[in-house]
Amino acid sequence: MCGIVGYIGPKSVESVLLVGLQKLEYRGYDSAGMAVLGDGEIATRKAVGKIAELQKLLKNQPMFGTVGIGHSRWATHGEPSTVNAHPHLNKQHTIAVVHNGVFENYAKLRSELTDDGYVFLSETDTEVAPHLMDKYLEEGFSPEEAFARMLRRLDGQYALAVIAEKANQKIFFARKGSPLIVARGKSEYLLSSDIPAVVPICEDAIYLENGEWGYVSPEGVTIFNAAGDIVTPKWEPITVSIEDVDKGEFEYLMLKEIYEQPDVFERIFKERLDETFIHFPELKFGKEYLARVGRILIQACGTSLNAGMIGRIYIEQFSRISTETDYSSEWRYRNPLTSGDSLVVGISQSGETADTLAGIREAKAKFMRVLSFLNNVNSTMARESDALINLMAGPEIGVASTKAFTAQVANLLLFSLYVGSIKWLIPSEERAKILSELRMVPDMMRKILKNHDSIKKIAAFLKDKNDTIFLGRTYNYPSALEGALKLKEISYIHASGYAGGEFKHGPLALVSENVPVVIIAPKGEIRTKMISNLKEAQARKGKIISIITEGDEEIKKESDFYFEIPECDESISPLLVAVPLQLLAYYTAIERGCDVDRPRNLAKAVTVE
Ligand code: F6R
Repeated sequence: MCGIVGYIGPKSVESVLLVGLQKLEYRGYDSAGMAVLGDGEIATRKAVGKIAELQKLLKNQPMFGTVGIGHSRWATHGEPSTVNAHPHLNKQHTIAVVHNGVFENYAKLRSELTDDGYVFLSETDTEVAPHLMDKYLEEGFSPEEAFARMLRRLDGQYALAVIAEKANQKIFFARKGSPLIVARGKSEYLLSSDIPAVVPICEDAIYLENGEWGYVSPEGVTIFNAAGDIVTPKWEPITVSIEDVDKGEFEYLMLKEIYEQPDVFERIFKERLDETFIHFPELKFGKEYLARVGRILIQACGTSLNAGMIGRIYIEQFSRISTETDYSSEWRYRNPLTSGDSLVVGISQSGETADTLAGIREAKAKFMRVLSFLNNVNSTMARESDALINLMAGPEIGVASTKAFTAQVANLLLFSLYVGSIKWLIPSEERAKILSELRMVPDMMRKILKNHDSIKKIAAFLKDKNDTIFLGRTYNYPSALEGALKLKEISYIHASGYAGGEFKHGPLALVSENVPVVIIAPKGEIRTKMISNLKEAQARKGKIISIITEGDEEIKKESDFYFEIPECDESISPLLVAVPLQLLAYYTAIERGCDVDRPRNLAKAVTVE
């Protein structure tokens, strides 16, 4: 949600910032801009829309210098426009600021600064920052002191990068709530909201803690904590490779990430499974504690919550622990009941989602322990949770979550089996059977991916529809929610997922020949119930798209379109069902000419509440 970059070093600042912004574009693409300090003066370029627009502008109006900052915006305060685009400047254009987050007290500051004679050009909260810094510089403070004073006046959460003519070879930075990384290459430093921007040229990085601030200069990095004490930088090697953050031969990152799923699963199994047992080496909770947990409260958002809903069934089934799920944004406001044996589980790809993070903080304020399932193990949630499980999906950059979802489901399944085994609830033969099926998932996924052409045919049919219904039961009710979420977010076709049993209690009224119904009916206990749903929809002229187990002739005959997944245990089926649903959303969006990696109005890592 907004990406910021900064660069100081010998390379072309414009090029480094541009590549950095391209790598961070998933965080927002309403507008983009950069400010470069060259020959003692700050120049800026801004463009509405995607980074490509800024790139066009730079072609005609290039920038030169050795220090610069850049921004890709996901609009919060003020519509996407050039005037609202970052960087924001003081009147004399001697200070430039890029910001990710929200200054909650901006209205008060704005009126105070207006009284002091400052003129605001934009509707953004960010613009208070350059004026505040200007005020302190005018009062005679050094750039370092002016920056520190400005920070003390700003409430809310933010990541900031600032350049100023009076501090010729410095970029100031601060982190409070929103992520920020300082990375170094050869005689050069980069600031960035996330790792992808720094991977091409940096070898190691510092993940700033909340409240930390400071500056980079050619001499190095200086960091202070919130109390103003100097902090010794903790450099960590960057393990992500360029291939991890590049779309390679694929047209879109989302497609690449869908195709990565078999490899992700092999990685997870290699790390977590041996011949007979499951391992979570990074999990700080001991077996004794886990065996005593009496209640689990899963809180997450969007796709991560859908994974959590499947996890709930696993945990109740295999660990026999009473488990609830809720949207983080609801959970934290409903004064949740607590007890000593309750464990709060947060699930998040980014580890930066503001709602989930607030849920974690609420849990800790109520003295509950927190375990988070995270893909970004350097994230704020990783730091604030009592323990974590690494999803190991690798960097997920496509705005629509795919491989992180299936990695969440897989890790939740393994976790539930692990806890169930600690509690001696699962006979070792049963565990061995599930694990041996799980090991076959990567190859089963590869088989599904090979068959992508049949999904293209369904997408060609779906592309002209305005509404679609997804139905599933038990393990695949959350799959229906996830299938609907994927379709609506990238193709803009309205889609809703329902529990099959609820269909006749209202949603059935929506069905007509123009409203297709996706029936998720793999082999298992609920298959016959799903056939009843199919018949109900068919009787109202609804076109049927079914996801079935290979060779299910009965459902095939009744369906207008079908997609077959390999035969597997019902508990594992959500992992396989997810893939055709992701492909269906993808190819439908392509058919409709949508920009899959930049769905309108959305951004990855939602760092505002
Ligand atoms: C949908 C999607 C979102 C995220 C949600 C939570 O494809 O990606 O619904 O799942 O914003 O994000 P994380 O998992 O980063 O907390």
